Amino acid sequence: MHTITLIRGDGIGPEIADSALAVIEAAGVHIKWEEVEAGVNALEKHGSPLPDQVISSLNKTNIGLKAPLTTPVGSGIRSINVELRMKFDLFANLRPAKSFPGLDLPYQDIDLVVIRENTEDLYSGIEYMVSEDIAESIKIISRKASERIARFAFDYAMEKGRKKVTAVHKANIMKLSDGLFLDVAREVAEEYPQIEFEDRIVDNMAMQLVLKPQQYDVMVMPNLYGDILSDLCAGLAGGLGLVPGANIGKNKAIFEPVHGSAPKYAGKDQANPGAMIMAAVLMLEHINEKEAARRIESALFALIKEGKHVTADLGGSAGTKEMTKALIDLL
Ligand code: NAI
Repeated sequence: MHTITLIRGDGIGPEIADSALAVIEAAGVHIKWEEVEAGVNALEKHGSPLPDQVISSLNKTNIGLKAPLTTPVGSGIRSINVELRMKFDLFANLRPAKSFPGLDLPYQDIDLVVIRENTEDLYSGIEYMVSEDIAESIKIISRKASERIARFAFDYAMEKGRKKVTAVHKANIMKLSDGLFLDVAREVAEEYPQIEFEDRIVDNMAMQLVLKPQQYDVMVMPNLYGDILSDLCAGLAGGLGLVPGANIGKNKAIFEPVHGSAPKYAGKDQANPGAMIMAAVLMLEHINEKEAARRIESALFALIKEGKHVTADLGGSAGTKEMTKALIDLL
């Protein structure tokens, strides 16, 4: 039996976490969940948004399934999501975005994977006031982090039978930092002659993804561009309610929806559990429960295509619980 750390999170987190757990159980995978609290709820209860139990549990289990956590704007609390990524050196953020059939979207054939460097760039947290009227944020790009994320992208492409890796950058303006990222990506690409390699400047990439997303396959990029373009890809594939993300390090991984805690829907049985269920699918693949992962994904595709028991963001009128039950019936 697998032992996995569970963080139910804030806002809609507990509802969509319950949904994902029920679906995993229905797919016949038995997991011993080690539940720990993080985020705003943990701050109120334990005096810290990231209590020691979270760290010790993840140190033990090496794998976490995490619902979204609220980061109060301007409260002085650093994002727990960023904190967890940094603490465990979860250097790769994997965000696959695949079209869900039956949705009213500009494209029906999206199959994109954003691989975002997760530990540096403008997320290094080095920010200060130079004077009362000037703020400075430091963008850090290192050879080591660029090399391991480029290698991760090519290894992922090889493992999944993908054809192409596109490096995304702004090296025409940030000649040193993004220039280093691009140079390293080019060097790593030479070790993988089976995979086509190209690079794109990030602004052009945003336009190309809207106009001709089918041209792209696996994309690798520094942290901030990955944050933004992965939401763009999520929008192309069906919306934030459906797209998962994985934060992967050397021997630890945390799986989560790309979306946040959507406070306006909290406790109302209205949140779409799809992204959390897809996060569970990525987690099951990671722990080698590939058959269960495939069955859950196909059932979710079928449920959304049928369109009868889906939440409002997908054009339906079902609640979180009804959508979950319908999915379990299909399984
Ligand atoms: P959000 O993703 O929570 O919401 C953006 C929009 O999408 C809202 O209209 C929301 O209602 C809708 N939405 C999101 N998930 C949905 C779902 N499952 N079903 C239906 N509709 C859904 O982003 P927002 O409002 O910027 O952030 C809210 C909080 O979440 C903030 O405190 C933010 O820091 C946090 N956050 C946490 C993340 C994480 O834990 N990984 C990621 C992004 C934001």
